[in-house]
Amino acid sequence: MSRITIQDLRKDHEISVYLKCSTEYLGKLGFTEHGKRHVSIVAKRAREILEVLGYSVRDCELAEMAGYLHDIANLVNRFNHGGMGAIMAYNILTRLQMQPEEIALVISAIGNHEEERGNAVNHVASALILADKSDVHRTRVTNTDFATFEIHDRVNFAAESSVIQVDAENRTIKLLLTIDTKICPVMEYFEIFLDRMIMCRRAAAFLKCRFGLVINENELL
Ligand SMILES: [Fe+2]
Ligand SMILES: [Fe+2]
Repeated sequence: MSRITIQDLRKDHEISVYLKCSTEYLGKLGFTEHGKRHVSIVAKRAREILEVLGYSVRDCELAEMAGYLHDIANLVNRFNHGGMGAIMAYNILTRLQMQPEEIALVISAIGNHEEERGNAVNHVASALILADKSDVHRTRVTNTDFATFEIHDRVNFAAESSVIQVDAENRTIKLLLTIDTKICPVMEYFEIFLDRMIMCRRAAAFLKCRFGLVINENELL
């Protein structure tokens, strides 16, 4: 058994191929970006959330690795990519000889990150949910024709910044968004992100924190 880190995952050929294919296939279907940019941001955020809350170094590393691998099954199908991604990650991490106790944390997080069927089952899963759902940003829009934007494109394109702020002392995790309301009214954001916000609230609660949503400096949740 060995102590696998994010560096081992980054240089792994099999993972790189799958991440590249996932991005390519989702791009063809017109989805927002789910490739290296997204997974690197999610990996970093998931690690930082647990770091600020005082979890062990290894827990933080596991959250980072779950973030890096969480969207890998988009190359198989968008539907249930969490569950399928967990199985793919299981095979990869077993090949890399990660300990079963650690694999369990990583794959349960991956298998529970989709808002349709995921739950904050442990601290790694909770950190992954918060990190993933908070990545709303203009650069994720792959469609270049504004006239054909659908609601996900509009909401992401309107998002000029999205930051997760963790306050360990006051036990709060806040998502701070800056949205250009000329592109997308705040209402449209809620239309597609309500499920995600409920999931974030539960994930924060698992980490014994209150979830807050601040859009354009207005506290909404
Ligand atoms: Fe995903
Ligand atoms: Fe994702």
